[in-house]
Amino acid sequence: MAKITKVVARQVFDSRGFPTIETEVFCRNISSKAICPSGASTGTYEAYEKRDKNNKKYLGKSVFKAVYFVNKIISKKILKKSVHNQELIDSILIKLDNTNQKTKLGANSILSVSMAVKKLSAKIKKIPLYKNFFIKKNFRLPFPLMNIINGGAHANNGLRIQEFMIRPDRAKTFSEAMNICYLVIQNLKKLIKDNNLSIAVGDEGGFAPMIKKNEEALNLIVKSIKKSGYMNGRDVSICLDVAANELYLKGKYSIHSNKYESVKNCISGYLKLIKKYKIKSIEDPFAENDWKAWSNFLKKVKNVQIVGDDLYVTNLQRLKKGFLNMSTNTILIKPNQIGTITETLEVIKFAQQIGFQTIISHRSGDSEDTFISDLAVGTNSTQIKTGSLCRSERVAKYNQLLRIEQYLPKKNNMAKLK
Ligand code: PGA
Ligand code: ZN
Repeated sequence: MAKITKVVARQVFDSRGFPTIETEVFCRNISSKAICPSGASTGTYEAYEKRDKNNKKYLGKSVFKAVYFVNKIISKKILKKSVHNQELIDSILIKLDNTNQKTKLGANSILSVSMAVKKLSAKIKKIPLYKNFFIKKNFRLPFPLMNIINGGAHANNGLRIQEFMIRPDRAKTFSEAMNICYLVIQNLKKLIKDNNLSIAVGDEGGFAPMIKKNEEALNLIVKSIKKSGYMNGRDVSICLDVAANELYLKGKYSIHSNKYESVKNCISGYLKLIKKYKIKSIEDPFAENDWKAWSNFLKKVKNVQIVGDDLYVTNLQRLKKGFLNMSTNTILIKPNQIGTITETLEVIKFAQQIGFQTIISHRSGDSEDTFISDLAVGTNSTQIKTGSLCRSERVAKYNQLLRIEQYLPKKNNMAKLK
């Protein structure tokens, strides 16, 4: 049995330069490490991220307490356990914390351990990480949802919608998908420059030009898709993450402009955008508790992917509620929203059983850790959301998928989009 012999955590930094936790788990002289990511537009129901709020040196952002918990409390409980028994280890972590939202130990300390254990188990079995999830054969690659214009909480340009993404729907292979996105991004860059706007990028690597209107961003994307020789809505689709929690006030939303408007008006605004720009996917169109707005909207759209992120927070109970409420047809999966890999996999499996598509996602504060690339392939998730083709923490995930692709069939290796 491959027993855990040592667990060591440390404070490192994420892509925004904020402290985060890395944990290294050992089986004698073999080890694997994992870094926890961190969100900016977080949902209320997400698992708790432990930070030393009163540490002046790091403006309250350090994670020394989380590091201490791993080194002094968690490590003792999982020493001598089999590294291959992920469920047992995760259940120990959950019990040790024993709160609904992992407020005692912090989901960041717990997840860094859980991910490192999963990686180490693969390493000891001498298999690639993507083969250490529940899909065992016929692996497929996820479609990238590349966030090419950043707004909302990820930029300071005043754009209402947080993420303007592209998805290369007709790509036959992952390399082809990357090539298509690359061309659109390079053409977009040129177009933004030609408009005398800045090509500086936001937290997820997408451009963050000083434009205020959603439609201006959409027009730029449509033009760059065309300039690259592709047809919008056929070869390449535009997808949005509204992150509407951030745009909500007392039953109204400021999505389509600075003005707050009713759900009814928001829906008609969305329907216009869907029609005009052939939008294929909208994430978090409404706030996390506005269940009625979600089901009203889902009823009115056809062939559009409606994605729950802050709505579900990778939480099985919330997913079940959303399913009964007919809120969405797709779920975004972020392991640090729930805190362990076992719980993450449970949510993915349930979502797939009820016919939802699963999209594996990074966080806006991320790192060189590429765990989610393998997770996407190993769970047959149809899509991955990991920012633009820019900033190493984003590109690292795409590069890992390119490595995986080399071991899969050379033709038609993409997941089947619904
Ligand atoms: P976050 O944003 O990581 O800042 O929460 C990503 C998202 O909303 O999908
Ligand atoms: Zn989101």
